Amino acid sequence: MKFETERPSSWQACVACGNELTENDPSARCPRCGGLLEIAHRAPGLSRTEMLLRFTDRRGRGPGAAASGVWRFREFVLPSAVEVVSHPEGNTPLLHREALDRWSGIGGLLLKHEGHNPTGSFKDRGMTVGVTQAVRIGARAVACASTGNTSASLAAYAAQAGIPALVLVPAGNVASGKLAQSLAYGARTLLVRGGFDDCLRLVQEASDRLGVYLLNSINPFRIEGQKTIVLEMLEQLGWEPPDWIVLPAGNLGNTAAFGKALREALAWRLIDRVPRIAAVQAAGAAPFARSFAEGFARRHRVEPETVASAIRIGDPASHDRAVRTIRETNGVVLAVTDEQILEAKAAVDASGVGCEPASAASVAGARELSRRGTIAPGARVVAVLTGHVLKDPGMLLDYHVERDPPPPGANRPVEIRADLREVERALKSSE
Ligand code: F0G
Repeated sequence: MKFETERPSSWQACVACGNELTENDPSARCPRCGGLLEIAHRAPGLSRTEMLLRFTDRRGRGPGAAASGVWRFREFVLPSAVEVVSHPEGNTPLLHREALDRWSGIGGLLLKHEGHNPTGSFKDRGMTVGVTQAVRIGARAVACASTGNTSASLAAYAAQAGIPALVLVPAGNVASGKLAQSLAYGARTLLVRGGFDDCLRLVQEASDRLGVYLLNSINPFRIEGQKTIVLEMLEQLGWEPPDWIVLPAGNLGNTAAFGKALREALAWRLIDRVPRIAAVQAAGAAPFARSFAEGFARRHRVEPETVASAIRIGDPASHDRAVRTIRETNGVVLAVTDEQILEAKAAVDASGVGCEPASAASVAGARELSRRGTIAPGARVVAVLTGHVLKDPGMLLDYHVERDPPPPGANRPVEIRADLREVERALKSSE
Protein backbone atom coordinates (compact mmCIF):
# COMPACT_ATOMS: atom_id res chain seq x y z
CA MET A 1 0.00 0.00 0.00
CA LYS A 2 0.95 3.69 -0.19
CA PHE A 3 -0.40 6.46 2.00
CA GLU A 4 -2.63 8.69 -0.09
CA THR A 5 -4.00 11.03 2.56
CA GLU A 6 -1.75 13.27 4.67
CA ARG A 7 1.17 11.25 5.96
CA PRO A 8 1.44 10.33 9.65
CA SER A 9 4.54 11.52 11.55
CA SER A 10 6.27 8.17 10.85
CA TRP A 11 5.57 5.02 8.84
CA GLN A 12 7.42 1.89 7.67
CA ALA A 13 8.54 1.30 4.09
CA CYS A 14 10.08 -1.75 2.44
CA VAL A 15 13.56 -0.94 1.12
CA ALA A 16 13.16 -3.57 -1.64
CA CYS A 17 9.67 -2.96 -3.11
CA GLY A 18 8.51 0.34 -1.58
CA ASN A 19 5.44 -1.19 0.11
CA GLU A 20 4.33 1.01 3.02
CA LEU A 21 3.07 -0.10 6.45
CA THR A 22 1.75 1.84 9.40
CA GLU A 23 4.12 2.69 12.23
CA ASN A 24 2.55 0.06 14.50
CA ASP A 25 2.60 -2.87 12.08
CA PRO A 26 4.43 -5.70 13.92
CA SER A 27 5.80 -7.45 10.77
CA ALA A 28 9.50 -8.34 11.00
CA ARG A 29 9.86 -8.01 7.21
CA CYS A 30 7.79 -6.73 4.29
CA PRO A 31 4.69 -8.97 4.13
CA ARG A 32 4.61 -8.55 0.34
CA CYS A 33 8.20 -9.37 -0.71
CA GLY A 34 10.13 -10.30 2.46
CA GLY A 35 12.41 -7.24 2.13
CA LEU A 36 13.81 -5.26 5.06
CA LEU A 37 11.69 -2.45 6.48
CA GLU A 38 12.80 1.09 7.21
CA ILE A 39 11.15 3.87 9.21
CA ALA A 40 10.36 7.08 7.36
CA HIS A 41 9.53 10.33 9.13
CA ARG A 42 7.74 13.41 7.95
CA ALA A 43 10.13 16.39 8.11
CA PRO A 44 9.69 17.99 11.55
CA GLY A 45 8.81 21.48 10.30
CA LEU A 46 11.37 23.19 12.54
CA SER A 47 14.24 25.42 11.56
CA ARG A 48 17.78 24.10 12.02
CA THR A 49 18.32 26.43 14.98
CA GLU A 50 15.08 25.32 16.65
CA MET A 51 15.99 21.69 16.23
CA LEU A 52 19.53 22.05 17.59
CA LEU A 53 18.25 24.03 20.56
CA ARG A 54 15.75 21.33 21.41
CA PHE A 55 18.45 18.64 21.32
CA THR A 56 20.81 20.48 23.64
CA ASP A 57 18.08 21.86 25.92
CA ARG A 58 16.90 18.38 26.74
CA ARG A 59 20.39 17.23 27.66
CA GLY A 60 20.93 16.70 31.35
CA ARG A 61 17.24 17.21 32.12
CA GLY A 62 16.56 14.20 34.22
CA PRO A 63 15.52 11.80 35.46
CA GLY A 64 13.74 10.17 32.57
CA ALA A 65 13.59 10.04 28.85
CA ALA A 66 14.28 13.68 27.95
CA ALA A 67 17.80 13.27 29.32
CA SER A 68 18.42 10.12 27.26
CA GLY A 69 20.99 10.52 24.49
CA VAL A 70 18.51 8.75 22.24
CA TRP A 71 15.20 10.43 23.09
CA ARG A 72 16.58 13.94 23.14
CA PHE A 73 16.77 13.43 19.35
CA ARG A 74 13.18 12.15 19.31
CA GLU A 75 12.24 14.08 16.13
CA PHE A 76 14.70 11.79 14.30
CA VAL A 77 13.82 8.65 16.22
CA LEU A 78 10.13 8.15 16.91
CA PRO A 79 8.32 11.47 17.34
CA SER A 80 4.95 9.91 18.19
CA ALA A 81 6.26 7.91 21.18
CA VAL A 82 4.90 9.22 24.49
CA GLU A 83 5.68 6.56 27.09
CA VAL A 84 9.18 5.25 26.44
CA VAL A 85 11.26 2.46 28.02
CA SER A 86 14.48 4.33 28.72
CA HIS A 87 17.28 3.51 31.19
CA PRO A 88 18.29 6.34 30.18
CA GLU A 89 21.08 5.62 27.67
CA GLY A 90 23.45 7.42 25.30
CA ASN A 91 25.24 10.70 26.10
CA THR A 92 28.50 8.83 25.67
CA PRO A 93 31.86 10.60 25.68
CA LEU A 94 34.09 11.57 22.79
CA LEU A 95 37.63 10.80 23.96
CA HIS A 96 41.12 11.73 22.87
CA ARG A 97 44.36 10.06 23.99
CA GLU A 98 47.73 11.17 22.68
CA ALA A 99 49.09 7.65 23.08
CA LEU A 100 46.57 6.50 20.48
CA ASP A 101 47.47 9.32 18.09
CA ARG A 102 51.04 8.05 18.22
CA TRP A 103 50.01 4.42 17.86
CA SER A 104 47.60 4.99 14.96
CA GLY A 105 49.56 7.70 13.15
CA ILE A 106 46.40 9.85 13.11
CA GLY A 107 46.69 13.23 14.83
CA GLY A 108 43.65 14.08 16.97
CA LEU A 109 42.01 10.65 16.62
CA LEU A 110 38.69 10.79 18.50
CA LEU A 111 36.95 7.81 20.09
CA LYS A 112 33.17 7.76 20.50
CA HIS A 113 32.88 5.32 23.39
CA GLU A 114 29.59 3.47 23.24
CA GLY A 115 30.77 1.11 25.97
CA HIS A 116 29.57 3.85 28.34
CA ASN A 117 25.95 2.81 27.78
CA PRO A 118 23.99 1.12 30.61
CA THR A 119 24.65 -2.47 29.51
CA GLY A 120 28.08 -1.61 28.12
CA SER A 121 27.44 -1.44 24.37
CA PHE A 122 25.80 0.66 21.66
CA LYS A 123 22.94 -1.84 21.49
CA ASP A 124 21.11 0.06 24.25
CA ARG A 125 20.46 2.94 21.85
CA GLY A 126 18.50 0.66 19.54
CA MET A 127 16.94 -1.38 22.29
CA THR A 128 15.29 1.55 24.08
CA VAL A 129 13.39 2.21 20.84
CA GLY A 130 12.76 -1.46 19.99
CA VAL A 131 11.36 -2.31 23.42
CA THR A 132 9.34 0.92 23.49
CA GLN A 133 7.77 -0.21 20.20
CA ALA A 134 7.20 -3.73 21.59
CA VAL A 135 5.18 -2.18 24.43
CA ARG A 136 3.25 0.08 22.06
CA ILE A 137 2.10 -2.84 19.94
CA GLY A 138 1.33 -5.01 22.98
CA ALA A 139 3.95 -7.73 22.23
CA ARG A 140 3.56 -10.77 24.50
CA ALA A 141 7.29 -11.59 24.35
CA VAL A 142 10.44 -10.30 22.62
CA ALA A 143 13.30 -12.27 21.09
CA CYS A 144 16.68 -11.92 19.42
CA ALA A 145 19.64 -13.88 18.12
CA SER A 146 22.93 -12.46 19.30
CA THR A 147 26.68 -12.72 19.62
CA GLY A 148 26.10 -11.41 23.16
CA ASN A 149 25.60 -7.66 23.30
CA THR A 150 22.16 -7.46 21.73
CA SER A 151 20.99 -10.20 24.08
CA ALA A 152 22.43 -8.44 27.16
CA SER A 153 20.68 -5.25 26.13
CA LEU A 154 17.39 -6.91 25.23
CA ALA A 155 17.40 -8.77 28.54
CA ALA A 156 17.81 -5.51 30.49
CA TYR A 157 15.19 -3.48 28.61
CA ALA A 158 12.66 -6.34 28.56
CA ALA A 159 13.13 -6.68 32.33
CA GLN A 160 12.46 -2.95 32.73
CA ALA A 161 9.32 -3.22 30.59
CA GLY A 162 8.14 -6.40 32.30
CA ILE A 163 8.00 -8.42 29.05
CA PRO A 164 9.47 -11.96 28.79
CA ALA A 165 12.64 -12.12 26.67
CA LEU A 166 13.98 -15.06 24.68
CA VAL A 167 17.60 -14.92 23.49
CA LEU A 168 19.46 -17.32 21.19
CA VAL A 169 23.25 -17.25 21.30
CA PRO A 170 25.95 -19.50 19.81
CA ALA A 171 26.96 -22.10 22.42
CA GLY A 172 30.60 -21.65 23.44
CA ASN A 173 31.10 -18.45 21.47
CA VAL A 174 29.72 -15.70 23.67
CA ALA A 175 32.02 -13.59 25.85
CA SER A 176 31.42 -14.40 29.52
CA GLY A 177 30.47 -10.85 30.58
CA LYS A 178 27.68 -10.81 28.00
CA LEU A 179 26.29 -14.23 28.86
CA ALA A 180 26.38 -13.29 32.54
CA GLN A 181 24.32 -10.16 31.82
CA SER A 182 21.62 -12.02 29.92
CA LEU A 183 21.27 -14.48 32.82
CA ALA A 184 21.33 -11.75 35.46
CA TYR A 185 18.59 -9.71 33.79
CA GLY A 186 16.42 -12.80 33.58
CA ALA A 187 16.14 -13.58 29.85
CA ARG A 188 15.32 -17.15 28.82
CA THR A 189 18.74 -17.95 27.34
CA LEU A 190 19.16 -20.65 24.68
CA LEU A 191 22.70 -21.82 23.85
CA VAL A 192 22.37 -22.92 20.25
CA ARG A 193 24.81 -25.48 18.85
CA GLY A 194 25.78 -23.42 15.83
CA GLY A 195 26.92 -19.93 14.91
CA PHE A 196 25.19 -16.54 14.99
CA ASP A 197 23.82 -17.05 11.49
CA ASP A 198 22.05 -20.25 12.64
CA CYS A 199 20.66 -18.38 15.67
CA LEU A 200 19.28 -15.61 13.46
CA ARG A 201 17.58 -18.05 11.08
CA LEU A 202 16.03 -19.90 14.02
CA VAL A 203 14.78 -16.81 15.83
CA GLN A 204 13.17 -15.48 12.64
CA GLU A 205 11.29 -18.75 12.25
CA ALA A 206 10.29 -18.61 15.90
CA SER A 207 9.03 -15.06 15.64
CA ASP A 208 6.95 -15.93 12.55
CA ARG A 209 5.43 -19.06 14.02
CA LEU A 210 5.22 -18.25 17.72
CA GLY A 211 4.24 -14.59 17.50
CA VAL A 212 7.10 -13.12 19.51
CA TYR A 213 8.34 -9.67 18.52
CA LEU A 214 11.76 -9.84 16.82
CA LEU A 215 14.33 -7.35 18.10
CA ASN A 216 17.39 -8.04 15.96
CA SER A 217 18.72 -5.13 13.96
CA ILE A 218 16.57 -6.14 11.01
CA ASN A 219 13.90 -4.50 13.19
CA PRO A 220 13.78 -0.94 11.81
CA PHE A 221 13.07 0.66 15.21
CA ARG A 222 16.47 -0.54 16.44
CA ILE A 223 18.11 1.34 13.57
CA GLU A 224 16.31 4.57 14.50
CA GLY A 225 17.86 4.46 17.97
CA GLN A 226 21.35 3.60 16.72
CA LYS A 227 21.30 6.64 14.42
CA THR A 228 21.76 8.78 17.51
CA ILE A 229 25.40 7.65 17.83
CA VAL A 230 26.07 9.79 14.77
CA LEU A 231 23.76 12.65 15.76
CA GLU A 232 25.32 12.92 19.19
CA MET A 233 28.83 12.75 17.73
CA LEU A 234 28.00 15.56 15.28
CA GLU A 235 26.59 17.60 18.14
CA GLN A 236 29.78 17.04 20.15
CA LEU A 237 31.72 18.34 17.14
CA GLY A 238 29.58 21.47 16.94
CA TRP A 239 27.79 20.03 13.83
CA GLU A 240 31.09 20.25 11.92
CA PRO A 241 31.27 16.75 10.36
CA PRO A 242 34.56 14.84 10.64
CA ASP A 243 36.22 13.58 7.45
CA TRP A 244 35.89 9.93 8.47
CA ILE A 245 33.79 7.80 10.81
CA VAL A 246 35.26 4.33 11.34
CA LEU A 247 33.21 1.53 12.86
CA PRO A 248 33.38 -2.25 13.32
CA ALA A 249 30.97 -4.20 11.11
CA GLY A 250 29.31 -7.56 11.70
CA ASN A 251 25.63 -7.95 10.94
CA LEU A 252 25.78 -4.43 9.38
CA GLY A 253 22.87 -2.91 11.32
CA ASN A 254 25.08 -0.14 12.63
CA THR A 255 26.59 0.59 9.22
CA ALA A 256 23.02 0.91 7.92
CA ALA A 257 22.05 3.17 10.84
CA PHE A 258 25.03 5.50 10.30
CA GLY A 259 24.14 5.98 6.64
CA LYS A 260 20.51 6.73 7.44
CA ALA A 261 21.48 9.22 10.15
CA LEU A 262 23.76 11.08 7.74
CA ARG A 263 21.21 11.02 4.92
CA GLU A 264 18.55 12.54 7.17
CA ALA A 265 20.90 15.02 8.85
CA LEU A 266 21.81 16.26 5.37
CA ALA A 267 18.18 16.36 4.16
CA TRP A 268 17.08 18.26 7.28
CA ARG A 269 20.06 20.62 6.92
CA LEU A 270 21.78 19.82 10.22
CA ILE A 271 24.99 19.32 8.23
CA ASP A 272 26.07 20.42 4.77
CA ARG A 273 28.30 17.47 3.85
CA VAL A 274 28.65 13.85 4.91
CA PRO A 275 31.75 12.20 6.37
CA ARG A 276 33.12 9.08 4.68
CA ILE A 277 32.24 5.84 6.46
CA ALA A 278 34.83 3.10 6.90
CA ALA A 279 33.32 -0.24 7.93
CA VAL A 280 35.89 -2.64 9.39
CA GLN A 281 35.46 -6.41 9.49
CA ALA A 282 37.61 -9.16 10.98
CA ALA A 283 39.53 -10.93 8.20
CA GLY A 284 37.99 -14.29 9.14
CA ALA A 285 34.45 -12.88 8.96
CA ALA A 286 34.60 -10.43 6.08
CA PRO A 287 31.87 -11.16 3.52
CA PHE A 288 31.04 -7.45 3.21
CA ALA A 289 34.68 -6.45 2.61
CA ARG A 290 34.81 -9.10 -0.11
CA SER A 291 31.69 -7.72 -1.79
CA PHE A 292 33.10 -4.19 -1.58
CA ALA A 293 36.34 -5.31 -3.27
CA GLU A 294 34.20 -6.52 -6.19
CA GLY A 295 32.26 -3.27 -6.44
CA PHE A 296 29.33 -4.91 -4.62
CA ALA A 297 28.72 -7.08 -7.70
CA ARG A 298 27.44 -9.83 -5.44
CA ARG A 299 26.72 -10.76 -1.86
CA HIS A 300 28.98 -13.28 -0.09
CA ARG A 301 28.47 -15.72 2.74
CA VAL A 302 31.43 -17.18 4.67
CA GLU A 303 32.11 -19.59 7.56
CA PRO A 304 33.19 -16.98 10.12
CA GLU A 305 36.12 -17.28 12.54
CA THR A 306 37.68 -14.49 14.63
CA VAL A 307 38.75 -13.67 18.19
CA ALA A 308 36.32 -10.75 18.04
CA SER A 309 33.28 -12.92 18.85
CA ALA A 310 30.85 -9.97 18.59
CA ILE A 311 31.45 -9.77 14.84
CA ARG A 312 31.81 -13.48 14.13
CA ILE A 313 29.10 -13.32 11.46
CA GLY A 314 29.18 -14.89 7.99
CA ASP A 315 25.93 -13.74 6.38
CA PRO A 316 25.11 -10.19 7.48
CA ALA A 317 21.38 -9.44 7.47
CA SER A 318 21.63 -5.71 6.66
CA HIS A 319 23.90 -6.18 3.62
CA ASP A 320 21.71 -4.16 1.21
CA ARG A 321 21.11 -1.28 3.62
CA ALA A 322 24.85 -1.13 4.36
CA VAL A 323 25.77 -1.05 0.65
CA ARG A 324 23.67 2.10 0.39
CA THR A 325 25.62 3.67 3.29
CA ILE A 326 28.98 2.94 1.68
CA ARG A 327 27.85 4.21 -1.72
CA GLU A 328 26.23 7.40 -0.40
CA THR A 329 29.19 8.36 1.78
CA ASN A 330 31.91 7.40 -0.69
CA GLY A 331 32.90 4.96 2.02
CA VAL A 332 35.21 1.97 2.19
CA VAL A 333 35.06 -1.52 3.69
CA LEU A 334 38.20 -3.28 4.84
CA ALA A 335 39.26 -6.34 6.77
CA VAL A 336 41.85 -6.44 9.55
CA THR A 337 43.49 -9.59 10.93
CA ASP A 338 42.95 -10.90 14.45
CA GLU A 339 46.56 -9.90 15.21
CA GLN A 340 45.80 -6.31 14.19
CA ILE A 341 42.63 -6.34 16.31
CA LEU A 342 44.48 -7.63 19.36
CA GLU A 343 47.30 -5.15 18.94
CA ALA A 344 44.80 -2.29 18.63
CA LYS A 345 42.93 -3.54 21.66
CA ALA A 346 46.13 -3.68 23.69
CA ALA A 347 46.86 -0.07 22.66
CA VAL A 348 43.32 1.15 23.50
CA ASP A 349 43.41 -0.69 26.83
CA ALA A 350 46.89 0.54 27.75
CA SER A 351 45.82 4.13 27.05
CA GLY A 352 43.40 3.76 29.96
CA VAL A 353 40.33 3.80 27.69
CA GLY A 354 39.66 0.09 27.22
CA CYS A 355 37.21 -1.66 24.90
CA GLU A 356 36.09 -5.13 23.86
CA PRO A 357 37.90 -6.92 20.99
CA ALA A 358 35.37 -6.16 18.21
CA SER A 359 35.48 -2.46 19.08
CA ALA A 360 39.23 -2.40 18.58
CA ALA A 361 38.65 -3.38 14.94
CA SER A 362 37.72 0.25 14.29
CA VAL A 363 41.00 1.57 15.68
CA ALA A 364 42.96 -1.14 13.84
CA GLY A 365 41.09 -0.17 10.67
CA ALA A 366 41.75 3.54 11.13
CA ARG A 367 45.47 2.87 11.51
CA GLU A 368 45.49 0.63 8.42
CA LEU A 369 43.67 3.25 6.31
CA SER A 370 46.08 5.92 7.44
CA ARG A 371 49.04 3.67 6.55
CA ARG A 372 47.59 3.08 3.10
CA GLY A 373 47.09 6.82 2.64
CA THR A 374 43.30 6.41 2.22
CA ILE A 375 42.91 8.52 5.35
CA ALA A 376 44.99 11.57 4.43
CA PRO A 377 47.38 13.25 6.89
CA GLY A 378 45.49 15.89 8.88
CA ALA A 379 42.07 14.26 8.34
CA ARG A 380 39.60 14.48 11.22
CA VAL A 381 38.75 10.93 12.23
CA VAL A 382 36.29 9.48 14.74
CA ALA A 383 36.55 5.77 15.57
CA VAL A 384 33.56 4.21 17.31
CA LEU A 385 34.26 1.93 20.27
CA THR A 386 31.17 -0.24 20.42
CA GLY A 387 31.61 -2.16 23.69
CA HIS A 388 33.13 -2.05 27.16
CA VAL A 389 36.46 -3.61 28.19
CA LEU A 390 34.73 -5.83 30.79
CA LYS A 391 32.54 -7.58 28.24
CA ASP A 392 35.18 -10.16 27.43
CA PRO A 393 37.32 -10.93 30.50
CA GLY A 394 38.10 -14.42 29.20
CA MET A 395 39.95 -13.03 26.20
CA LEU A 396 41.83 -10.55 28.39
CA LEU A 397 43.00 -13.20 30.82
CA ASP A 398 44.07 -15.41 27.94
CA TYR A 399 46.08 -12.54 26.41
CA HIS A 400 47.74 -11.29 29.57
CA VAL A 401 48.03 -14.44 31.70
CA GLU A 402 47.78 -17.66 29.72
CA ARG A 403 49.52 -17.22 26.39
CA ASP A 404 52.94 -18.71 26.05
CA PRO A 405 55.11 -17.03 24.92
CA PRO A 406 53.50 -13.82 26.18
CA PRO A 407 52.33 -11.53 23.33
CA PRO A 408 53.77 -7.98 23.10
CA GLY A 409 52.18 -5.85 25.80
CA ALA A 410 51.11 -8.83 27.93
CA ASN A 411 50.85 -7.69 31.54
CA ARG A 412 51.55 -10.79 33.63
CA PRO A 413 50.36 -10.62 37.23
CA VAL A 414 52.96 -11.68 39.82
CA GLU A 415 52.09 -13.83 42.79
CA ILE A 416 54.13 -13.05 45.90
CA ARG A 417 54.53 -13.98 49.53
CA ALA A 418 53.02 -11.42 51.94
CA ASP A 419 56.40 -9.73 52.35
CA LEU A 420 57.40 -6.08 51.77
CA ARG A 421 60.67 -7.05 50.07
CA GLU A 422 58.74 -8.86 47.38
CA VAL A 423 56.57 -5.78 46.83
CA GLU A 424 59.74 -3.68 46.55
CA ARG A 425 61.26 -6.07 44.03
CA ALA A 426 58.08 -5.99 41.92
CA LEU A 427 58.01 -2.18 42.00
CA LYS A 428 61.65 -1.98 40.83
CA SER A 429 61.10 -4.35 37.94
CA SER A 430 58.15 -2.30 36.66
CA GLU A 431 59.96 1.06 36.75
N1 F0G B 1 30.74 -4.20 17.96
C1 F0G B 1 30.14 -4.89 18.94
C2 F0G B 1 30.69 -4.79 20.32
C3 F0G B 1 29.01 -5.69 18.66
O1 F0G B 1 28.42 -6.37 19.64
C4 F0G B 1 28.55 -5.76 17.33
C5 F0G B 1 27.39 -6.59 16.99
C6 F0G B 1 29.21 -5.02 16.35
C7 F0G B 1 30.30 -4.25 16.70
C8 F0G B 1 28.79 -5.02 14.93
O2 F0G B 1 27.61 -4.31 14.73
O3 F0G B 1 26.21 -6.10 13.77
O4 F0G B 1 25.54 -3.72 13.61
O5 F0G B 1 27.45 -4.58 12.28
N2 F0G B 1 26.82 -7.35 17.79
C9 F0G B 1 25.57 -8.09 17.52
C10 F0G B 1 25.08 -8.76 18.78
C11 F0G B 1 25.61 -8.96 16.32
O6 F0G B 1 24.34 -9.76 18.69
O7 F0G B 1 25.38 -8.28 19.86
P1 F0G B 1 26.65 -4.69 13.52
